[in-house]
Amino acid sequence: MAIENSVFDCQIIHFPVIHNRAGNITPVQNNIEIPFDIKRVYYLYDVPGGADRGGHAHKDLEQLIIAASGSFDITLDDGTSKRTFSLNRPNMGLYLCPGIWRDISNFSSGAICLVLASEYYTEQDYIREYEDFKTYKLK
Ligand code: TYD
Repeated sequence: MAIENSVFDCQIIHFPVIHNRAGNITPVQNNIEIPFDIKRVYYLYDVPGGADRGGHAHKDLEQLIIAASGSFDITLDDGTSKRTFSLNRPNMGLYLCPGIWRDISNFSSGAICLVLASEYYTEQDYIREYEDFKTYKLK
Protein backbone atom coordinates (compact mmCIF):
# COMPACT_ATOMS: atom_id res chain seq x y z
CA MET A 1 0.00 0.00 0.00
CA ALA A 2 1.41 3.37 -1.04
CA ILE A 3 0.21 4.91 2.22
CA GLU A 4 2.37 2.50 4.23
CA ASN A 5 5.45 2.65 1.97
CA SER A 6 8.57 4.06 3.59
CA VAL A 7 11.79 5.55 2.28
CA PHE A 8 13.40 2.21 3.23
CA ASP A 9 11.35 0.53 0.47
CA CYS A 10 13.31 2.67 -2.03
CA GLN A 11 16.76 1.56 -3.07
CA ILE A 12 19.68 2.05 -5.41
CA ILE A 13 19.79 -0.53 -8.21
CA HIS A 14 23.09 -1.22 -9.96
CA PHE A 15 22.76 -2.03 -13.65
CA PRO A 16 25.04 -4.24 -15.73
CA VAL A 17 27.82 -2.54 -17.69
CA ILE A 18 29.14 -3.97 -20.95
CA HIS A 19 32.62 -2.47 -21.09
CA ASN A 20 34.33 -1.69 -24.35
CA ARG A 21 37.38 0.34 -25.26
CA ALA A 22 35.07 2.50 -27.34
CA GLY A 23 32.63 3.10 -24.47
CA ASN A 24 30.12 1.27 -22.32
CA ILE A 25 26.58 -0.05 -22.73
CA THR A 26 24.03 -0.40 -19.93
CA PRO A 27 20.87 -2.34 -20.80
CA VAL A 28 17.74 -2.02 -18.64
CA GLN A 29 14.85 -4.40 -19.22
CA ASN A 30 11.29 -4.75 -17.90
CA ASN A 31 11.11 -6.98 -14.85
CA ILE A 32 14.81 -7.89 -15.09
CA GLU A 33 16.89 -4.86 -14.08
CA ILE A 34 13.69 -2.80 -13.55
CA PRO A 35 11.20 -4.19 -10.99
CA PHE A 36 8.10 -3.14 -13.00
CA ASP A 37 6.81 -2.84 -16.57
CA ILE A 38 7.92 0.46 -18.10
CA LYS A 39 5.02 2.35 -19.73
CA ARG A 40 6.63 5.79 -19.97
CA VAL A 41 10.08 7.31 -20.25
CA TYR A 42 10.80 11.00 -19.73
CA TYR A 43 13.88 13.06 -19.04
CA LEU A 44 14.70 16.39 -17.44
CA TYR A 45 17.42 18.44 -19.08
CA ASP A 46 18.49 22.09 -19.50
CA VAL A 47 17.85 22.49 -15.76
CA PRO A 48 19.09 25.98 -14.80
CA GLY A 49 21.74 26.23 -12.05
CA GLY A 50 20.16 26.27 -8.58
CA ALA A 51 16.77 24.99 -9.79
CA ASP A 52 14.92 22.28 -7.85
CA ARG A 53 12.48 19.74 -9.31
CA GLY A 54 10.07 17.23 -7.86
CA GLY A 55 8.25 18.60 -4.83
CA HIS A 56 5.45 16.06 -5.07
CA ALA A 57 4.46 12.43 -4.41
CA HIS A 58 2.62 9.82 -6.47
CA LYS A 59 -0.18 7.55 -5.29
CA ASP A 60 0.40 4.60 -7.63
CA LEU A 61 3.39 5.36 -9.84
CA GLU A 62 6.64 3.40 -9.55
CA GLN A 63 9.72 5.11 -10.94
CA LEU A 64 13.37 4.39 -11.60
CA ILE A 65 15.47 7.58 -11.72
CA ILE A 66 18.86 7.60 -13.45
CA ALA A 67 21.51 10.29 -13.88
CA ALA A 68 22.02 9.57 -17.58
CA SER A 69 24.54 12.43 -17.58
CA GLY A 70 25.96 14.59 -14.78
CA SER A 71 24.67 14.39 -11.24
CA PHE A 72 21.92 15.49 -8.84
CA ASP A 73 20.58 14.66 -5.38
CA ILE A 74 17.18 13.17 -4.55
CA THR A 75 15.73 13.58 -1.07
CA LEU A 76 12.94 11.13 -0.20
CA ASP A 77 10.42 11.71 2.56
CA ASP A 78 7.69 9.31 3.74
CA GLY A 79 6.28 11.75 6.32
CA THR A 80 8.38 10.15 9.07
CA SER A 81 11.88 9.52 7.70
CA LYS A 82 14.04 11.18 5.07
CA ARG A 83 16.86 9.76 2.93
CA THR A 84 19.06 11.57 0.41
CA PHE A 85 20.70 9.80 -2.51
CA SER A 86 23.31 11.25 -4.88
CA LEU A 87 23.03 9.94 -8.41
CA ASN A 88 26.14 10.48 -10.53
CA ARG A 89 26.63 7.43 -12.78
CA PRO A 90 24.48 6.09 -15.64
CA ASN A 91 24.95 2.49 -14.43
CA MET A 92 22.84 2.97 -11.31
CA GLY A 93 19.32 4.14 -10.60
CA LEU A 94 17.06 4.91 -7.65
CA TYR A 95 13.88 2.84 -7.38
CA LEU A 96 11.00 4.92 -5.97
CA CYS A 97 7.91 3.09 -4.76
CA PRO A 98 4.57 4.94 -4.68
CA GLY A 99 3.65 7.18 -1.75
CA ILE A 100 7.01 8.94 -1.32
CA TRP A 101 7.61 12.69 -1.43
CA ARG A 102 10.70 13.59 -3.49
CA ASP A 103 12.79 16.70 -4.02
CA ILE A 104 15.51 16.76 -6.68
CA SER A 105 18.29 19.34 -6.31
CA ASN A 106 21.97 20.15 -6.92
CA PHE A 107 21.81 19.48 -10.66
CA SER A 108 25.24 19.67 -12.24
CA SER A 109 25.61 21.64 -15.44
CA GLY A 110 24.28 19.57 -18.37
CA ALA A 111 22.72 16.91 -16.11
CA ILE A 112 20.10 14.61 -17.63
CA CYS A 113 17.61 13.01 -15.23
CA LEU A 114 16.14 9.97 -16.98
CA VAL A 115 12.93 8.59 -15.46
CA LEU A 116 11.42 5.18 -16.23
CA ALA A 117 7.82 5.05 -15.05
CA SER A 118 5.26 2.29 -14.54
CA GLU A 119 2.22 4.30 -15.75
CA TYR A 120 1.23 6.87 -18.35
CA TYR A 121 1.10 10.48 -17.21
CA THR A 122 -1.99 11.48 -15.25
CA GLU A 123 -2.27 14.51 -13.01
CA GLN A 124 -4.72 12.57 -10.77
CA ASP A 125 -1.82 10.45 -9.50
CA TYR A 126 0.05 13.49 -8.09
CA ILE A 127 -0.01 14.85 -4.55
CA ARG A 128 1.44 18.33 -4.99
CA GLU A 129 0.90 19.92 -1.56
CA TYR A 130 3.06 18.70 1.32
CA GLU A 131 0.20 19.16 3.81
CA ASP A 132 -2.02 16.93 1.61
CA PHE A 133 0.80 14.37 1.56
CA LYS A 134 1.04 14.35 5.36
CA THR A 135 -2.75 13.86 5.60
CA TYR A 136 -2.63 11.07 2.99
CA LYS A 137 0.09 9.20 4.92
CA LEU A 138 -1.89 9.42 8.16
CA LYS A 139 -5.00 7.75 6.69
P1 TYD B 1 6.33 17.41 -12.90
O1 TYD B 1 6.19 15.92 -12.82
O2 TYD B 1 5.69 18.22 -11.82
O3 TYD B 1 7.87 17.79 -12.99
P2 TYD B 1 9.09 17.70 -11.96
O4 TYD B 1 8.78 16.68 -10.91
O5 TYD B 1 10.24 17.31 -12.79
O6 TYD B 1 9.33 19.04 -11.36
O7 TYD B 1 5.80 17.87 -14.33
C1 TYD B 1 5.95 19.20 -14.77
C2 TYD B 1 4.88 19.48 -15.80
O8 TYD B 1 5.02 18.60 -16.92
C3 TYD B 1 3.45 19.28 -15.28
O9 TYD B 1 2.65 20.32 -15.79
C4 TYD B 1 3.01 17.98 -15.89
C5 TYD B 1 3.83 17.87 -17.16
N1 TYD B 1 4.17 16.46 -17.49
C6 TYD B 1 3.52 15.83 -18.54
O10 TYD B 1 2.67 16.41 -19.23
N2 TYD B 1 3.87 14.53 -18.83
C7 TYD B 1 4.79 13.86 -18.10
O11 TYD B 1 5.06 12.64 -18.39
C8 TYD B 1 5.44 14.53 -17.01
C9 TYD B 1 6.47 13.82 -16.16
C10 TYD B 1 5.10 15.83 -16.74
